[in-house]
Amino acid sequence: MTDTEPQTAGGKVLWHFTMSLDGFVAGPNHDMGWMAGSTGRPGLVDEYVKSTGAVLGGRDGWDVAGGHRPYGGAWDGSIFVLTHHPEDAKPVDGVTFLSCDPAEAVRIGLKAAGEKNLEVFSPSIGRQLLDLGLIDEIDLHIAPVLLGQGIRLYDNPGSVPVRLHKVGDGDSTAAVNVRFRPVKNG
Ligand SMILES: NC(=O)c1ccc[n+]([C@@H]2O[C@H](COP(=O)([O-])OP(=O)(O)OC[C@H]3O[C@@H](n4cnc5c(N)ncnc54)[C@H](OP(=O)(O)O)[C@@H]3O)[C@@H](O)[C@H]2O)c1
Repeated sequence: MTDTEPQTAGGKVLWHFTMSLDGFVAGPNHDMGWMAGSTGRPGLVDEYVKSTGAVLGGRDGWDVAGGHRPYGGAWDGSIFVLTHHPEDAKPVDGVTFLSCDPAEAVRIGLKAAGEKNLEVFSPSIGRQLLDLGLIDEIDLHIAPVLLGQGIRLYDNPGSVPVRLHKVGDGDSTAAVNVRFRPVKNG
């Protein structure tokens, strides 16, 4: 069994998601029920609670989160929410609504993160940052499920392929092999 090394703090900008095998990070209407039933490696939450200094998300993700903080409330860093209309956002302690360009949002988020990482919890902002060359790592946990619809990690019609290098030891251009079986009903 191979897996990534545990995440470490380092002032990095991470595009961090749990993703379905077919590339969705949320179901239709932001449904997240599909995440139940898959388990993370031992200590995973603690790993990110320790290595994350700040979070940058989009307004839609924040609105559907209903004020719930990441990592089940175990993490208490600064949250930044990017929106074109911060004036109608309800103020919440520890949450700053930003209306600026994504590069400026990253600068603000990294400053707040100190030596730790800034996690980007938004597909649309992550795509904009990728275009700007401001994503250091795409950090994914692939859940054993196919959704077929929802919000994709990377939705960019007309895009050219974006080449990636695998982080860690070994050939950075090697494909990652995964093998799953459909769960039989009944
Ligand atoms: N699977 C996981 O691990 C995971 C983790 C976190 C979140 N999620 C899910 O990811 C989904 C994210 O939703 P989403 O992709 O539809 O939306 P989103 O990226 O959270 O929000 C999109 C909104 O962000 C604002 N925004 C984006 N770029 C901006 C810019 N350059 N300037 C100003 N504002 C900007 C805009 O808000 P305004 O319309 O206000 O201008 C835009 O409508 C949610 O369903 C959430 O639950 C999944």
